[in-house]
Amino acid sequence: MTVRWGVLGAGWIVRTATAAAFHDADGAVLQAIGARDRARAEALGPRIAYDSYAAVIEDPDVDAVYIALSNDAHLPWIVAALEAGKHVLCEKPLTLSHDQAVEAFALAEHRGLLLVEAAWSRWHPRMQRLSELVASAGVGTVHEYEGSFTFSGVPQGNYRLEPKRGGGALLDVGVYPLHGLVATIPDPSALAVIDVVHERHRGGVDLTTSADLQWGPGTRARITASFIQPEHQQLALAGSEGRIDLPGNDAFTSWRAPSTLVVDGHVEEFAPVDAYRIMVEQVSTVILGGTGWVVPPRDSLAVAHLLDMLRTEG
Ligand SMILES: NC(=O)c1ccc[n+]([C@@H]2O[C@H](COP(=O)([O-])OP(=O)(O)OC[C@H]3O[C@@H](n4cnc5c(N)ncnc54)[C@H](OP(=O)(O)O)[C@@H]3O)[C@@H](O)[C@H]2O)c1
Repeated sequence: MTVRWGVLGAGWIVRTATAAAFHDADGAVLQAIGARDRARAEALGPRIAYDSYAAVIEDPDVDAVYIALSNDAHLPWIVAALEAGKHVLCEKPLTLSHDQAVEAFALAEHRGLLLVEAAWSRWHPRMQRLSELVASAGVGTVHEYEGSFTFSGVPQGNYRLEPKRGGGALLDVGVYPLHGLVATIPDPSALAVIDVVHERHRGGVDLTTSADLQWGPGTRARITASFIQPEHQQLALAGSEGRIDLPGNDAFTSWRAPSTLVVDGHVEEFAPVDAYRIMVEQVSTVILGGTGWVVPPRDSLAVAHLLDMLRTEG
């Protein structure tokens, strides 16, 4: 059995990674792509290419839709795809606010359809192992977390610099360390912001956000997201019985390269994988009624809530 996927958009992430993941994945077929420029969609090799997103969701041969549009377009197209009876995998951040995420998951539940945030780093075996270690109290009770994702060089004209289109470093790359955080502490709803600092672009989006949070006495999380700092990714945490580090500069984007995780000096090695492909395979398996892992709605909602808090404070 196979899930026939329709893709909305043929932008950077689709061209660089996800079109190939749909082609390579078991249990999935790249049925359709819609883009404003039909030729750009066709070049990615779907069974059929369209020059509109509506044509994809209306295609009766499409079972599930992957949304890879700019962030402001996520909620409208999640709603349209669910209303058309399609399961949805939507790029991160799922929506622009917690209220929007609640609305989206409520509609999916009402329609009996799957809605999943494509926070691809969560499917990487190293990240799965990290969650497993923490859940089994492998390093005791976690009391410290540090997560950062910074880079420089967003081109002028890109939606990432436009507030109305869901731009800003926090929504773009802050989502990754926040997903790491909600995956590794027992109760994300206990998280409170201690301090947050934004450095803003003249257009209004945050170019850098640094924040300290806590989830109980003696705990601390530090999150950094930036469009103007040197390329850097880090995930490290400390528990009452030890610490875990993800060495290298690819804590959230390890892709087709070997990776390691260090648990109190002991190195665990991971073979190169395409976590986008794993994501497509797992989501397809769940759609087909099998057993697979997908980012739980609880985690997407918790991240949406944190994004709201961090964007409005400071
Ligand atoms: N998982 C990951 O590793 C990862 C990495 C990067 C980005 N993302 C996410 O993927 C999404 C797209 O990011 P991207 O880097 O691929 O962005 P991008 O290259 O700028 O593409 C933006 C997409 O938005 C569409 N769009 C619709 N109206 C538009 C307009 N008026 N102006 C410009 N674009 C318009 C474009 O569609 P057409 O193709 O129809 O022109 C294009 O597909 C975002 O939600 C982002 O957070 C995920």
